[in-house]
Amino acid sequence: MELGFGGEVADFYDRYRRGYPTEVIDGVVEAFALTGDDVVVDLGCGTGQLSVPLAARVKAVVGVDPEPDMLAHAAAHGAKNTTWVVGTDTDLPALRAATGPVAAVTVGQALHWMDHELLFGEIEPTVRAGGGIAIVTNGTPLWLQDSDWSRRLREVLEQWFTTKLSATCGTDDASQERYLAAMTAAGLTVDKSVVTYAGELTLPEIVGGIYSALPVHRLPSRENREFLECRIDKAFQGQAMFAEEVRVTTLIGRVTGT
Ligand SMILES: C[S@@+](CC[C@H](N)C(=O)[O-])C[C@H]1O[C@@H](n2cnc3c(N)ncnc32)[C@H](O)[C@@H]1O
Repeated sequence: MELGFGGEVADFYDRYRRGYPTEVIDGVVEAFALTGDDVVVDLGCGTGQLSVPLAARVKAVVGVDPEPDMLAHAAAHGAKNTTWVVGTDTDLPALRAATGPVAAVTVGQALHWMDHELLFGEIEPTVRAGGGIAIVTNGTPLWLQDSDWSRRLREVLEQWFTTKLSATCGTDDASQERYLAAMTAAGLTVDKSVVTYAGELTLPEIVGGIYSALPVHRLPSRENREFLECRIDKAFQGQAMFAEEVRVTTLIGRVTGT
């Protein structure tokens, strides 16, 4: 899907997207032995799903995102040791010139927007000894899950938007393999971990989740939303709760020799 996390999309994202399980945050902290002396850069921080819990474990987090509306939500959640910067993955060299070595760079559900090969090549000069990069995904997109409700949802959405919905947002095995290979090629030592848990969604949460994933110019008008929501509800045939297996993967890339 095209980029465009501004306006109402940022509001939907903030309200409806899941955060990360504590186990995942703990995993990142342990992987880089993060302490209260460390600074972390969270690229593609969005509304702060990774940055905010990480900030409670380190000296400071710099959240970086090109979308000011996402950053405004992040700032509303952030503590005093968070700072929010409008920028992209390619700003990392300029950022480290300002911060000095940081402990880690994190990317939560955002690597598919970035030039990952270029980014992985920038990690060694950016981090302190023992540091590295964590790439985290946050579940399979709602329209691609292996469940009846997800297949019905995909059918409705494909008809509505008159397009095939196949975007995995970097969560599929092939993308993960590609990222892992690129991290290794950049000289990083890679570990992968997976946390899976059972989640439940209501219809408004599914609809809000869909709107949070659309580029803002493709959001249906308020009037049309009612029609779309009716179609989805009809396809779900009165079902009220929807089970989801949420799979959160973390790729840890450590700088070699540390
Ligand atoms: C799906 S959201 C992820 C937000 C959050 N990190 C999370 O874990 O939920 C993707 C974010 O990446 C941002 N983004 C898009 N292109 C980017 C780039 N080149 N560099 C950094 N962030 C980018 C978007 O603005 C959006 O806020």
